[in-house]
Amino acid sequence: MATDILDTVAVAPRIRQTQLLIDGEWRDAVSGKTFETVNPATEEVIANVAEGDAADIDLAVKAARNAFESGPWSKMDARDRGQLIYRLADLVEKNIEELAALESLDNGKPIRDSLAADLPLVIDCLRYYAGWSDKIEGTTIPIRGNHFCYTRREPLGVAGQIIPWNFPLLMVAWKWAPALTAGCTIVMKPAEQTPLSCLRMAELAMEAGIPPGVINVIPGYGPTAGASLVKHPDVDKIAFTGEDATAKIIMADAAATLKRLTFELGGKSPNIVFADSDLDAAVAGAEFGLFFNQGQCCCAGSRLFVEESVHKEFVAKLVERAASRKLGDPLNPETTQGPQVDHAQMEKILSYIQKGNAAGAHCVTGGTRFGDKGYFVEPTIFDYVTDDMPIATDEIFGPVLSILPFKSIDEVVNRANNTHFGLAAAIWTSDVKKAHHLANRIKAGTVWVNCYDVFDAAAPFGGFKQSGIGRELGAAGLANYTELKTVTMSLD
Ligand code: NAI
Ligand code: MG
Repeated sequence: MATDILDTVAVAPRIRQTQLLIDGEWRDAVSGKTFETVNPATEEVIANVAEGDAADIDLAVKAARNAFESGPWSKMDARDRGQLIYRLADLVEKNIEELAALESLDNGKPIRDSLAADLPLVIDCLRYYAGWSDKIEGTTIPIRGNHFCYTRREPLGVAGQIIPWNFPLLMVAWKWAPALTAGCTIVMKPAEQTPLSCLRMAELAMEAGIPPGVINVIPGYGPTAGASLVKHPDVDKIAFTGEDATAKIIMADAAATLKRLTFELGGKSPNIVFADSDLDAAVAGAEFGLFFNQGQCCCAGSRLFVEESVHKEFVAKLVERAASRKLGDPLNPETTQGPQVDHAQMEKILSYIQKGNAAGAHCVTGGTRFGDKGYFVEPTIFDYVTDDMPIATDEIFGPVLSILPFKSIDEVVNRANNTHFGLAAAIWTSDVKKAHHLANRIKAGTVWVNCYDVFDAAAPFGGFKQSGIGRELGAAGLANYTELKTVTMSLD
């Protein structure tokens, strides 16, 4: 596997597109403004990207509305729509190395992860939803009286999609694939930290033959481009992934037009290790569950509950693994941990490390910035964390793990659920009954048993409580891009 990756990363990242995509045309922002996107490993500017704001969003929404109403997409035969999405998946596959390199350049994630995780999941998501296109069915309903009653699932309309920087292309796929399959048209605002792969993907969508105006992409900032998309009266839905605080602003901004909203937000996910588990597997799962993607995962297993009787042994093994992670150039195939996405995120993480130390948690590995160029943070583990410490309650979104020892099942269930988040959880045990018992009692949208971060386009993902509204992926993710219409016909 490592040699395969070594062979493939000969492809150097290329920047092909830095403009806005509106109605199938690449153009500068109306204001003429641009913003810099930075390589987080070197702190050097990669490119200047057109900075959209309200005027550009308005043009993009008009294009998306026109493409929706005039029907090159929404009224296309469903199976033909599916074929174009398959074609996009094929083009992504054909350009996988280039896209992976671009993703690593802009985001800082190790190329081995872009190639082995992000891009394959992108392709799989597109193909999964392409297959749905001609299977979006209604039902017939036996209502009272002499009536014929049936339902139709119609495309929702113009979808505004706002995505974060932690999985830039995967978030594009999670948003575009179900929207396109349902027959919606799209205005997307990628994250200001990582606009490049989304723009390249939009280019591939044009090449695939997806009609002009169906996908529009407006890079820019949240309070300007993002907020105008949310407030635009001609946008039917906002799909957002990001911080819970941002979702609250979006919900308020969307109230005036009563938009449909789906949110996929943050977490403080409990990862629970019992003494009867395969300890080495649990150690590997704990490392992967938190440190993957530099800890920048909404579902990161950032509260690691370890049963007291194995706690010391477990921590020793985990520290050894964490300390052996290879930090460095994301484009080097040997690298397993890249930089954080930007300076602000690095500073946020370092401030939480300070809070952990100040609260009296034991820092057993890491604890500082790595090097002085690039936004690298050492893999950091705090032991003997208590439930009320900021490092146990807040989403840090970095390579900082909190270990919390526990004694009994009821205790750990209560402590795991004692948060306003509810995105994911994991349980490590060899006792099937215990696993089911906990899987039922944990308040989270996803529960992994003896595994972590197992994602599949067919399996719904989303949060309980303040971790989200609605689900992405699977049939549930598709339903969120449709309106359900009931037709009742008199047969008298
Ligand atoms: P954010 O939620 O502010 O940004 C996500 C997206 O929302 C970006 O495209 C941004 O431009 C846009 N946005 C920001 N303000 C907006 C507004 N008022 N209206 C419309 N769109 C807006 O997240 P940010 O600031 O990048 O990161 C802050 C923290 O959020 C992180 O430290 C992490 O804790 C959390 N986060 C969680 C993510 C997740 O997957 N759950 C992803 C990214 C961040
Ligand atoms: Mg923000």
